Amino acid sequence: MGKRVAIFGAGYVGLVTGACLAELGHTVTVRDVVAAKVDALRRGEVPIYEPGLDELLARNRERLTFTLDAAGAVADAEFVFVCVDTPPTYSGDADLSRVWTVVEELEPTGTCPILVMKSTVPVGTGEKVRAALDARGLGAVGYVANPEFTAEGSAVHDFLHPDRIVIGSFERADADAVEALHARIAAPVLRTDVNSAEMVKLASNAFLMTRISFINEIANVCEAVGADVDQVARGIGLDHRLGAHFLRAGVGYGGSCFPKDSLALKQLAANSGYHFQLLAAVIEVNELQKRRVVAKLEKHLGRLRGRRIAVLGLAFKPNTDDLREAPSLVIASRLLAEGADVRTWDPAADARDLLTGAVQCAAAEDAIAGADAAVVVTEWPQLRELDWRRLRGKMRNPLVIDGRNLLDPEEMRVLGFAYEGIGRAAPPFAGLPEIAEPHAATPS
Ligand SMILES: NC(=O)c1ccc[n+]([C@@H]2O[C@H](COP(=O)([O-])OP(=O)(O)OC[C@H]3O[C@@H](n4cnc5c(N)ncnc54)[C@H](O)[C@@H]3O)[C@@H](O)[C@H]2O)c1
Repeated sequence: MGKRVAIFGAGYVGLVTGACLAELGHTVTVRDVVAAKVDALRRGEVPIYEPGLDELLARNRERLTFTLDAAGAVADAEFVFVCVDTPPTYSGDADLSRVWTVVEELEPTGTCPILVMKSTVPVGTGEKVRAALDARGLGAVGYVANPEFTAEGSAVHDFLHPDRIVIGSFERADADAVEALHARIAAPVLRTDVNSAEMVKLASNAFLMTRISFINEIANVCEAVGADVDQVARGIGLDHRLGAHFLRAGVGYGGSCFPKDSLALKQLAANSGYHFQLLAAVIEVNELQKRRVVAKLEKHLGRLRGRRIAVLGLAFKPNTDDLREAPSLVIASRLLAEGADVRTWDPAADARDLLTGAVQCAAAEDAIAGADAAVVVTEWPQLRELDWRRLRGKMRNPLVIDGRNLLDPEEMRVLGFAYEGIGRAAPPFAGLPEIAEPHAATPS
């Protein structure tokens, strides 16, 4: 039977959770604090880009309500999902102020809902929230840690077809109720205590990041010794003990989760007196990986002042418009700092407010035309489909730095490009036919 669910936070997680729970037959009220967002959702407009979300929201319209009113949202709710953002503070700890606001906004209701924590929070948060609820006379309100593992770009599919559903609770009955809410989803359910559920989320993300930084370091060594990381990764991935996932070398991870969650876990360990050395290295490798692109450009072009560089892809990964902690922002900012003339393109993300000084182009071709180099930063499939033969003639220098190993190196070289990927065997100097003079220097 359908349940009544309130969702706090109409962001990437809240909207996907709300739409998917409505799809499962539940009646959902989504509450946010941003009036423009709520108004847009009421009009049927989806404020974020997430494949399949528009259709799901439209299809389940009669079971979905959007509101600014906290009390109204929880009035008859049986479950209150917390899907608010938990960004890092200056110290690297997770900022839980929005989570606490939701807890403070809960008033006693006739239904005594279960508070379901979807936001990523430090280990120990559930215990603190439990104590705060008890102190406020809300002892009958249940609490469940139900971390979210969806990935932006495939979040709707991930929610409805998860690898596992993790449910950490203090009371068995609360876990039973949350499990029943997901009954129509076929996935293993892992029941844990609350602390362990919180740790599963942080540790899973840390492990994924470790694989990314690991393969990026292997890629860097491949470049130094003349091996090809794509072939190496395939060889690693065929080992059933290791698996093939998250072994794609590139310019590093970004997004709203990995960078902040790695910091939060590192900080959580440090706060408890433990130096998480491996995670510290994973984070540092990722930082340096973004900057290696600039060194590669300099290897071919010399000083970048006045050079026109096309930055292709801005979103932290394809199929999203999310720019949070996107490697593109670091790369483009470094190029701007070097005095380069930066032209960007992305089919979904808009970075005009974040990259003042760069020109955002409507079409990839416009960013590439006249450029001294093009850098692939996000593996949007559209970039593979470009007519690179024609584009070669439009560039001032036919140099492509492929930060995602998206393009075929041989094809690019046959087309006359000086091409460098990540961890792909490349000549020490790709020998541009003739390097044109830089564009007039732009003020920096
Ligand atoms: N983005 C992801 O793919 C993803 C995946 C797994 C886990 N998470 C975690 O889920 C949480 C939410 O992430 P997100 O990407 O959806 O964030 P988001 O920034 O996209 O959305 C958060 C929403 O919460 C709203 N909000 C803030 N305070 C509120 C309040 N008191 N009441 C109601 N709404 C409020 C904000 O206005 C915003 O719309 C974070 O802890 C994140 O780490 C995110």
